[in-house]
Amino acid sequence: MHELYFLKNRDNPESHTIEFYLGHGGYEALKKTLKQFAPKEVIEEVKKSGLRGRGGAGFPTGIKWGFVPQDNPNPKYLICNADESEPGTFKDRYIIEHEPHMMIEGIVLSSYAINCHQAYIYIRGEFVAGADILEKALAEARAKGFVGKNIFGSGYDLNINVHRGGGAYICGEETGLIESLEGKRGWPRLKPPFPAIVGLFNSPTIINNVETLANVPLIMERGADWYSKIGSNPKNAGPKLYCVSGHVNHPGLFEFPLGMNLKELIYEHAGGVYKAHQLKAVIPGGSSTPVLLPDEIDVAMDYDSLMSIGTMLGSAGAIVMDETTCMVDALYNLERFYAHESCGQCTPCREGTMWMVKLLSRLEHGEGTVDDVDLLKDVAGNIMGRTICPLGDAAAMPAKSFVQKFRDEFIEHTRQHRCPITKDKSIKGTDANA
Ligand SMILES: Cc1cc2nc3c(=O)[nH]c(=O)nc-3n(C[C@H](O)[C@H](O)[C@H](O)COP(=O)(O)O)c2cc1C
Ligand code: SF4
Repeated sequence: MHELYFLKNRDNPESHTIEFYLGHGGYEALKKTLKQFAPKEVIEEVKKSGLRGRGGAGFPTGIKWGFVPQDNPNPKYLICNADESEPGTFKDRYIIEHEPHMMIEGIVLSSYAINCHQAYIYIRGEFVAGADILEKALAEARAKGFVGKNIFGSGYDLNINVHRGGGAYICGEETGLIESLEGKRGWPRLKPPFPAIVGLFNSPTIINNVETLANVPLIMERGADWYSKIGSNPKNAGPKLYCVSGHVNHPGLFEFPLGMNLKELIYEHAGGVYKAHQLKAVIPGGSSTPVLLPDEIDVAMDYDSLMSIGTMLGSAGAIVMDETTCMVDALYNLERFYAHESCGQCTPCREGTMWMVKLLSRLEHGEGTVDDVDLLKDVAGNIMGRTICPLGDAAAMPAKSFVQKFRDEFIEHTRQHRCPITKDKSIKGTDANA
């Protein structure tokens, strides 16, 4: 049985309080680190641990911190990305609501590492309860002296503010988030320069996901060597939260060492496919990641294993679809989301997502042609790699993979002039969102 780090207190309603956290060794890693480690040594330890970003791209955390130019006279900022808007993803929300002090301790340690004295938590506006819990936890941490001036008598000062977002998916993208935090519309910036060099208020800025930062106290408490042995291998290390939703008997949040087998996750831990139906498809890492067929799911849920079969770990939000799912309708649903959330700055994303929605609407309502199926793939291909931020790719990747892996089903919609799965979509307008 593996040890739990994030979910171990899931049944305890007091886990979010500072008394509970302190009673279970909380803030000891911070106390030890501020006494024994110089900031550079914290970066080295995190590099050695193998920790990679849990927000989607899987970039090595210590390496990112090392990019911050310490000779830049501007202040350094750290932003905790708590926007969590990827469909199928609900892991950060758990940490925010149940283990806010783990996250705050991680923020203080990470800020110390990069010589930052002002950190922000950018939280999705809809997470009202979570934001309130965080504000309360921060007040508790300030009262105990774990946040504020001269933390643990070390001379190190840090202020942390919670900023509530307006509820736009694009504000989870790091540069859109920075713009939003600066009080502007959340329009992503061209990179380079990367935020570590030019970020918030034109100053060096590190942005990390909630789960990424919540791993840091573990690393500093037990050491990089210990940490790097959890998971598939040192490049895919640490504990990991996995979200499972869709057609399973027990959807929910699970914790395993990085590299949990996807098939085992679905059939043994999430209770198998709903009503003993046949499995049709799995989106492994949140809605942006390419879909997998049933014979592809015997795979380790880590960065490199999923990459090797053409998909991604992403935000580790597995969405399970059974035989009753219409793949055209499922993609239509996803693409409506992306078209709605596109910020509109770049033509391929703004126009491409809109055209994909139109084509999918036609196909799902039995009005499409075989050419439309090819055009859909074409449009997706023309978005990829041609946009300011990765939202364009995030919209295009599912479209490409759905059409490639379920082409026959797409074609069947054109032959039968209706949806062959749900059957009642032949008349335009039966779907409220059409
Ligand atoms: C459209 C879009 C939405 C994103 N939303 C989130 C989000 O809600 N939370 C998050 O941590 N990262 C999100 N990301 C990834 C961030 O841009 C960034 O890579 C991440 O916060 C870095 O943290 P990490 O290195 O700890 O993973 C999003 C990226 C894109 C393109
Ligand atoms: S890819 Fe889409 S969301 Fe990203 S900047 Fe361009 S238009 Fe905006």
